[in-house]
Amino acid sequence: MTTYDPSRDGAQMSFDGRMSYGDYLQIDTILNAQTLLTGAHDEMLFIIQHQTSELWMRLALHEMDAARAAIAAGEVRAAFKMLARIARIFEQLNSAWDVLRTMTPSEYTRFRDGLGQSSGFQSWQYRLIEFAVGNRNAAMLRPHAHRPDLLARLEAELARPSLYDEALRHLAREGLPVPAEVLNRDLRGPWVAHEGVQAVWEIVYRAPEQHWEAYELAEKLVDFEDYFRRWRFNHVTTVERVIGFKRGTGGTSGVQYLRRMLEVELFPELWHLRTSL
Ligand code: HEM
Repeated sequence: MTTYDPSRDGAQMSFDGRMSYGDYLQIDTILNAQTLLTGAHDEMLFIIQHQTSELWMRLALHEMDAARAAIAAGEVRAAFKMLARIARIFEQLNSAWDVLRTMTPSEYTRFRDGLGQSSGFQSWQYRLIEFAVGNRNAAMLRPHAHRPDLLARLEAELARPSLYDEALRHLAREGLPVPAEVLNRDLRGPWVAHEGVQAVWEIVYRAPEQHWEAYELAEKLVDFEDYFRRWRFNHVTTVERVIGFKRGTGGTSGVQYLRRMLEVELFPELWHLRTSL
């Protein structure tokens, strides 16, 4: 049997002066970005797990910006598509923990000291996602003070309406009684659960057929938060499995800090209304 030559099927085999797969995707740049600081075998896994998470976060932010713009323009249906994709991205990130979980505490301790004070706590994209959806805390800007470019991006995010702000502005435009103080709130501040907002969502959930778009929007937001909560839970469980109750490299109490973050509610009224329906 002769060896199969895919060029007979038309496969392009010569890339002199033509853009190839690696050129378009800048694969060299990506594959040259794994600089192991220790000789530990598992450091490669640790680096790639974080880098791939950052790539997925980049896409989530891209979709989030477009979803917000679509809602602001009244094109809520276009936003549904993007919000569904963001939820899937988080599902992807959730499955990724299975790979990291194969690393034991003995393996991690072989390179943990090499990380110095670096930690996911300093992930500006993660913070940007939190700010973009509505979990705003200006204290989280401080680890980025040494990078004016990143600080400016995070500051700019705090000055814009969040995804939740945009959703509520949309409901107000549709004639639902969103309280004015909520629509005119200080955007930089943290979200504070508001009875008036819950009352609006209750109108929607009590008569979905009359407010179908708002109802679908609400469920897309809940979906996102559901996956996001699972990410947080998977993270804290993996952290406990790998470092127990040691302090984090970023300086926090570690698992205790992360457990506290499990209590964060992004869209509190959407969760609270379920009790009162
Ligand atoms: C063995 C693996 C991991 C360990 C032991 C670990 C540990 C920790 C700890 C202890 C914290 C709290 C801050 C600190 O004091 O350092 C933290 C925060 C964080 N980690 Fe991880 N982590 C791991 C993997 C990951 C991965 C794969 C990602 C993906 C990007 C990630 C993203 C984050 C983020 C975004 C925070 C900030 C969370 C917040 O402030 O709510 N971590 N991590």
